[in-house]
Amino acid sequence: MKAAVFHEYGAPQVLRYEEVPTPKPRQGHLLLKLLATGINRLEHYLREGSYSRALPLPHILGADASGEVAAVGPGVDGFVVGERVIPLPGYPLAQEDWEFAPLSAAPSYAVAGVLEPGTYAQFLSLPARWVAKDGTGLRPELVATLPMAVVTGVRAVKVLGEVKAGDQVLITAGASGTGSMAIQIARALGARVAATVRNPAKTAFVKGLGVDVVIESEREEVAKKVLDWTSGRGADVVIDNLGGPLLRQSLAAVKRQGIVVVLGFVCGVEVSFDIRDFFFAQKQIRGSLMGSAQDLAWGLDLVRQGKITPLLDQVIPLREAAAAHELLAANRVKGNLVLSPWD
Ligand SMILES: NC(=O)c1ccc[n+]([C@@H]2O[C@H](COP(=O)([O-])OP(=O)(O)OC[C@H]3O[C@@H](n4cnc5c(N)ncnc54)[C@H](OP(=O)(O)O)[C@@H]3O)[C@@H](O)[C@H]2O)c1
Repeated sequence: MKAAVFHEYGAPQVLRYEEVPTPKPRQGHLLLKLLATGINRLEHYLREGSYSRALPLPHILGADASGEVAAVGPGVDGFVVGERVIPLPGYPLAQEDWEFAPLSAAPSYAVAGVLEPGTYAQFLSLPARWVAKDGTGLRPELVATLPMAVVTGVRAVKVLGEVKAGDQVLITAGASGTGSMAIQIARALGARVAATVRNPAKTAFVKGLGVDVVIESEREEVAKKVLDWTSGRGADVVIDNLGGPLLRQSLAAVKRQGIVVVLGFVCGVEVSFDIRDFFFAQKQIRGSLMGSAQDLAWGLDLVRQGKITPLLDQVIPLREAAAAHELLAANRVKGNLVLSPWD
């Protein structure tokens, strides 16, 4: 099969389109023919080596995909060749952790495509337990934008953020893959949303997602704008995928006893803040990682109801995976990029 493989850490050009052995479905596994592959920011960090340098090289990245069953391994029931499916974008590698709750806190939990070969390929073999049936009725290119953003968004917004109807929620980087999905999930839960963008060219895109207030963070003070919007009270919940110094803004923007859910580090991994403001106001910071099969099912149900729309930026052939990573690294993406494995 063909895959986008990297043999060394570095710039997007280290992604090479190559012939590699097609996996065989082992006991309990399904072999999926991948019809479309979603790209996520984590893969950019993994490729450049800034997240970890412990990957088994050469390596195939990729967590998200839409596929169909190509072969059913021994011991697997309930799947037939040709049916449309979605691989989970992360799961515990050790079988003794498969019932762990919450799933993404399991000791052996791994985002797909980090420790095992990923979805930047024409075929993927994985345990049938971590394959969901695709009842969305959508084109594969649209489905491939969904899994990681949906599980991450449902867990961060609904489960850890406890967002409910009437809440006022701030979401950072509203045009990003995670941000644009978090906006849609918060809106589906009945919340009102403010979102930040750094690049004003993305303001209209974020407005189109139904947010009340777009904050252009390069020229407006985020916390002040949120306090104005909430009559001085602060947001009930903040979903922060940027981290770094911008997390200080998120903490300043949340109300007393409010919740800041932290799920990303685009702006850096270290942050300092005055703990007096934090504990006097009894604010909470909650870390959020990925989500479960139930989170994915809940989110896909919203897709079926038309309450979440896949936000596809563009489809790029798998052989041009390096060019796709260049777009991502330059922040020239709205929603998600998708690779087409057969072009
Ligand atoms: N915890 C989890 O389970 C989980 C799951 C998925 C992703 N993540 C993490 O979440 C983060 C976002 O991922 P993603 O896939 O949503 O990324 P993405 O789609 O590539 O978007 C990144 C966004 O960051 C913004 N940005 C870049 N540099 C910035 C800066 N200096 N100041 C302000 N904004 C800046 C860009 O906005 P502008 O264009 O407006 O500049 C862009 O929209 C990453 O750290 C990723 O690893 C975590």
